[in-house]
Amino acid sequence: MHLKTNSPEKITLEDSKSPITGIITLPGVGSALSRKLQEAGFSTLESIATVSIGELMALGGLGEKTAGKIIQAARDKLGYGFVTADVILETRRNMLRATTGADTLDDLLNGGIETGSITELYGEFRTGKTQLAHQLCVTCQLPPALGGFNNDDNNPISCIYIDTEGTFRPERIVSMTTRFGSDLDVQMVLKHIFHGRAYNSDHQMVLVENIIKDAPSKNVKLVIVDSLIAHFRAEFVGRGTLAARQQKLNQHLHSLLKLAEVSNVAVIVTNQVHSQPDMFFGDPTMPVGGHILAHVSHTRIYLRKSKGERRIARIVDSPLLPESETVFAITEEGIGDVH
Ligand code: GTP
Ligand code: MG
Repeated sequence: MHLKTNSPEKITLEDSKSPITGIITLPGVGSALSRKLQEAGFSTLESIATVSIGELMALGGLGEKTAGKIIQAARDKLGYGFVTADVILETRRNMLRATTGADTLDDLLNGGIETGSITELYGEFRTGKTQLAHQLCVTCQLPPALGGFNNDDNNPISCIYIDTEGTFRPERIVSMTTRFGSDLDVQMVLKHIFHGRAYNSDHQMVLVENIIKDAPSKNVKLVIVDSLIAHFRAEFVGRGTLAARQQKLNQHLHSLLKLAEVSNVAVIVTNQVHSQPDMFFGDPTMPVGGHILAHVSHTRIYLRKSKGERRIARIVDSPLLPESETVFAITEEGIGDVH
């Protein structure tokens, strides 16, 4: 299994995980420092190559020069730097896609939700953000031929659900699994969804940092943060706190981005909308989080209510997909097509 395909030498998961062939081979990293770095969460070459000098100094207790040298050596080993477009294309071919459960929505997304990037689901209350997040925890556990990420029976994938509002319901997972009949075992599906209730924004950030450490060994392929913004919004009230909130949110989003890109994980974040009553044209609702979130999430899906169980999904700001929309349904069995 290759973690990083833009490396000329193709570092394998085993190579980069092992302290012998991994970080201990970096110049200046002896066994004591190697242990110290691993305790601080740097267990792979990727984790070192993608950290900032400041972070490595703080977490590993190192001087600036040493930290910089170690990071550069890890990058050199992994072949980081400029890569040609054909190599990036090849990397993108290794991205996995999971079905949303609705053909219309999959078509809109060019096949489904992808690994290696952040997808943002935003919309008003009851538009289906949480339901779609639950559904993805189920569908991503299907084998690739049926639209999931599970390509190795001996090493099943794991999903992480970071729940900031207490709206995760395992009962919904059970009903959403039933429709796949013998293709999915309900107990197996439940056992591979790890639920973390985040009680405040700091807790939410720590949970993500922990996943970054464990993602390779637990074969994490889907991480949901539902909702991304709620705690930040509640804790930073008033105009004077905006800069501090955005700074913290920026840090959190970059951790999620790192998780997506380094470990080839599909990261799904949900986001509320706030009204812009002074807006005269278009939809007077905008996702919370401002420009920081807009720049980091690779695919933004705007959800709206329609008649009854119908919902409208619109792709906004995708680097690859055209801006277009479609209709899907939320039923007892989960996300599906409108009949
Ligand atoms: P907020 O978190 O409040 O911002 O909303 P959300 O976008 O996360 O909404 P959510 O995904 O929870 O969608 C709620 C809607 O899903 C409900 O209004 C129902 O229409 C639908 N729904 C939830 N559970 C069921 C169910 O068991 N059966 C059916 N048929 N629909 C359900
Ligand atoms: Mg919700």
